[in-house]
Amino acid sequence: MSAGRSARRIAAIGARLGLAAAALMMTAPLALAVPSAPDWAFPPLGVKPPSGPARTITVPGSRVQRPEAALHSMVAAVDWFPTAHPAPPSLVLKGEGKAWACGYCHLPDGQGRPENAALAGLPKAYILTQLRAFADGVRRSPQTRDGASSGAAALMIQEAQAAPQGEWDALAAYFSRRPFVSRVKVVETDVIPSVKPQVYIYVAQQGPSAPLGERLIEIPVSTEDFEARDPHASFIAYVPKGAVAAGARLADSGGPAGQPCQACHGAGLKGALGPPLAGRSPSYILRQLLAFRAGTRANPEAAPMRVVAANLTNVQMIDLAAYAATLRP
Ligand code: HEC
Ligand code: HEC
Repeated sequence: MSAGRSARRIAAIGARLGLAAAALMMTAPLALAVPSAPDWAFPPLGVKPPSGPARTITVPGSRVQRPEAALHSMVAAVDWFPTAHPAPPSLVLKGEGKAWACGYCHLPDGQGRPENAALAGLPKAYILTQLRAFADGVRRSPQTRDGASSGAAALMIQEAQAAPQGEWDALAAYFSRRPFVSRVKVVETDVIPSVKPQVYIYVAQQGPSAPLGERLIEIPVSTEDFEARDPHASFIAYVPKGAVAAGARLADSGGPAGQPCQACHGAGLKGALGPPLAGRSPSYILRQLLAFRAGTRANPEAAPMRVVAANLTNVQMIDLAAYAATLRP
């Protein structure tokens, strides 16, 4: 039996046995010819935006004013809306030893940004599992273009190794209780504005529009709001025409593995055994599907997902990510 066929058979057995089969799936041989993770899905560091003359800034609706330079400190997160959430554990806003402030990347209320992840509304146990997986080096990026220890995900590995384990529980509890708000609009199109990579995300730039092709490109609506780390900044995800409907069909049928996404991620993909996906950044979701397929999310809890993703094509992953992003959290 070919590896692909036997993986499918084990997936089918898994579906019949339900989740008790997770352990069985772990040893399932995955498909042999795994397509590589496409470079465009992992925007590189690119060119950092130039810092202009020193100025004081704020964001719409905030009473806080800060020198722009404060936005660049990884050990002191700017909190534009301090009364919009309860007092967080100190590591959210302030670095400690070699650990950076979680809120610098994920924002103080955990809404996250497309180049990292929203933590708001994730189950506490899931957050703890992921911190463990990063710290153990078993959750890595499938993209090694710039070397194994580069890319945004490598920063999270460093962070999980540096963050004191005694604080994980309080951090996970805090982020899991923050309500997640979706701020992405999915747009089906053939052409997109000119974009450039800027610190692990694409932003619009002056220039001729370009064909989208078989890609998913997510950019901030306003680069300025995004650079100000405004938690209300919104995003547009450009996806190929027909992607959302194709993704809906795939989610319902379960794709090649025949396991509907809703079976584990719940109705409307609002979260059940698997974490919530509804309304989350589709470029993030896509990178995770690529990681499961490549086997670089290798913690034991990820075993069912590796079976689900094993035989998905890049285009199917784009469709699924596009569909999930259109759902209400
Ligand atoms: C320097 C930026 C940075 C900092 C600081 C940071 N993270 Fe992350 N985090 C990331 C990136 C990037 C990812 C996405 C990794 C990937 O794509 O696999 C991530 C992902 C995660 C995830 C996985 C979310 C999911 O849906 O699976 C968790 C949980 C997490 N971070 C928790 C934390 C906590 C808690 C802190 C503070 C102790 C923290 N992070 C600090 C960049 C950061
Ligand atoms: C057999 C159960 C199961 C099925 C079916 C399933 N998932 Fe999952 N999924 C999980 C589990 C469990 C996790 C969490 C893995 C971990 O803890 O590391 C997960 C995680 C994920 C993640 C990572 C989320 C994050 O925040 O990083 C994505 C994306 C995802 N699944 C997408 C899908 C899609 C799309 C489908 C349908 C094609 C699907 N899943 C079907 C169980 C499942």
